[in-house]
Amino acid sequence: MAKLKIEGGHQLNGTVRISGAKNSAVALIPATILAKESVMIEGIPNISDVYQLKDLLEEIGGIVTFENEVFSVNPINMVNMPLPNGRVKSLRASYYLMGAMLGRFKSAVVGLPGGCYLGPRPIDQHIKGFEALGAKVTNEHGAIYLRAKELVGARIYLDVVSVGATINIMFAAVYAKGQTIIENAAKEPEIIDVATFLNNMGAKIKGAGTDVIRIEGVNVLKGCNHTIIPDRIEAGTYMIIGAACGGRVVVDNVIPYHLESVIAKLREMGVRIEIEDDERIVVYGKEDLKMVDIKSLVYPGFPTDLQQPFTALLTKAKGNGIVTDTIYNARFKHIDELARMGADVKVKGMNAFVNGPTHLQGTKVRATDLRAGAALVVAGLMAEGTTEIFNVEHIDRGYEEIGPKLCALGARIWRENITPEEAEILKQS
Ligand code: EPU
Repeated sequence: MAKLKIEGGHQLNGTVRISGAKNSAVALIPATILAKESVMIEGIPNISDVYQLKDLLEEIGGIVTFENEVFSVNPINMVNMPLPNGRVKSLRASYYLMGAMLGRFKSAVVGLPGGCYLGPRPIDQHIKGFEALGAKVTNEHGAIYLRAKELVGARIYLDVVSVGATINIMFAAVYAKGQTIIENAAKEPEIIDVATFLNNMGAKIKGAGTDVIRIEGVNVLKGCNHTIIPDRIEAGTYMIIGAACGGRVVVDNVIPYHLESVIAKLREMGVRIEIEDDERIVVYGKEDLKMVDIKSLVYPGFPTDLQQPFTALLTKAKGNGIVTDTIYNARFKHIDELARMGADVKVKGMNAFVNGPTHLQGTKVRATDLRAGAALVVAGLMAEGTTEIFNVEHIDRGYEEIGPKLCALGARIWRENITPEEAEILKQS
């Protein structure tokens, strides 16, 4: 097991190239189950969640290759194998196997998903959608059993705006008879990406990116080539890093439109940002940052996935700020770790209160989940001395080559094996 070590306080300059979007990739890969011919997706990020899904596709009989960011799947010989345990438990996105397998085979057995603990993460809206389409859904010993004689289009109103439920219902509906309408659908760019991919295969999906999505069932989805969208959360993370520690940091291969809320918040803090050719965002670091409040909301609001790294940046700003996460109101595990580094941040109810500026000090901290890990990387880069981040596996689930990318910008960041004593402490806590 490795830990990430960061010697903080160095100014960062240069260009970082953003990888394909994790939260698109983890949906596009299960979507390949629905195809009746081979498909190829370009730009898939080299992250551990992708490898888990690759193994899952292979487990059900898919022939998969993943080289140089190109993910190819021959789904022809896939079978409806039950997946009650094992890998499905290690990532959240395994819930997409439910919709995709239900869509293709009319039945599926998939263990309840794992992934980052951000407080309760129910999947009732996914199930509501599957049931509306005609599936019988039961929870048996921690696995979801889905069975349908046939799937028939339906009108489904989501009580909670959910990225996962919107995509999963699209998967189950592409082969359903007649029309499915998803109301109060999520509008995240990843949903448009997945709908574009399905439409390229022959699906008939309209309205992705709005809150009403209409799906006309079809008989066959054929093969296609698709290029994934860039990861707006990885891009936002490097923008935050640029604001905290730049120089001049160029965040390349982005869709600036996807990052408007982040650009607005950074500008509100006094950070200079330029947009070049609609595909690069240039961020100039600043010492005297103004404090702001942030409130995470569904897209196009401020993304919950950047709330944690942004909170690390706020510790450098002057004044009192309030952080509210309306999507996951318990997504505050990073706060204790930031406090260990000297941050003056307290969680009260659904808010974190930040008092700044504080000068962070490097110490040993734990990445409790993916974006908490990103927050600690931001903090470590800003801090005086050396920060050691444990449980790096969480960061590796979603950030491709974070060490090498930061080193190329001039950061001092490297991996070391953890000592037996550290392994023992981690085991006990
Ligand atoms: N929710 C329900 N019932 C449901 C589904 C969701 O109550 O059936 C609630 C959730 O508990 C949450 C809210 O609705 O409070 C939104 O959840 P959503 O379903 O949109 O989240 P998700 O699909 O499980 C994806 C990303 C998350 C990201 C959220 C919000 C994947 C695999 N995960 O999760 O990404 O935070 O959308 O944008 O796509 C991350 O990348 O670090 C991450 C956690």
